[in-house]
Amino acid sequence: MPAQLIDGVALSGLIRGDVATRAAALTAQGRKPGLAVILVGEDPASAVYVRNKVKACEACGFHSVLERYEATLDQATLLARIAALNADPAIHGILVQMPVPRHIDPHKVIEAISTAKDVDGFSVHSAGALMTGLPGLRPATPYGCMKLIESTGLSLKGKHAVVIGRSNTVGKPMALLLLQAHATVTVCHSGTPDLGAHTRHADVVVVAVGRRNTLTADMVKPGAVVIDVGMNRNDEGKLCGDVDFAGVREVAGFITPVPGGVGPMTITMLLVNTLQAAEALNA
Ligand code: GUN
Repeated sequence: MPAQLIDGVALSGLIRGDVATRAAALTAQGRKPGLAVILVGEDPASAVYVRNKVKACEACGFHSVLERYEATLDQATLLARIAALNADPAIHGILVQMPVPRHIDPHKVIEAISTAKDVDGFSVHSAGALMTGLPGLRPATPYGCMKLIESTGLSLKGKHAVVIGRSNTVGKPMALLLLQAHATVTVCHSGTPDLGAHTRHADVVVVAVGRRNTLTADMVKPGAVVIDVGMNRNDEGKLCGDVDFAGVREVAGFITPVPGGVGPMTITMLLVNTLQAAEALNA
């Protein structure tokens, strides 16, 4: 029997409905949630992502601003703009779309955002809070993956989860969230010699490397939950993930599609974080 699809669009719809209700309650108190999104440069994929983030904000009744700057924008000007947004009471979340041009230091940009408005959860403070189990804003993509796994009804307690990828934005926070949910976690990466030796024992596999066909059917334990964070193009130019979907769906118990899996959940959890930041202010 082929795997059950985990529908990120449907789950997003449910969560965004709740977000819109809570946003309306804040707005009625004069505390409308606000997100500022900054894009530096003309990368077409990034332009689509930020537009989708702003559109999702508007659909949920948030205030949102999109600031676009030329790739030549200097770092000092960007940091000054972030400082102004830190001080703006109408803005509860600030997101600078990554990657930024090479002359700008992404760490400086991330650390310039005030902790309370770090809705990406990328700062050292937010990462430290996640690592130590303190409350805080969690990176949207792994947070969304956790919601997708939860939606299967599977308890992670005592399960073996394998994360493929060790980025600061997905792989590492994903591993920490799975640990927090009492899974036994293995983190694999491009230097792992025999990926299949790990994934074949996994009850949950999260793939976040940005390379198609990283996970194939022979590498998956029957019935496993497979979460595909990848966003690639195949030879025909069609969007595809890191998982060989057609093959793996015949073995897995649950699987996320690309598109329609993790992608919409990333935006949804950004909305959740912005709402949480707005609710926390003067709560
Ligand atoms: N670039 C790709 N994904 C993300 C994300 O979640 N946040 C930011 N700021 N940039 C990204």
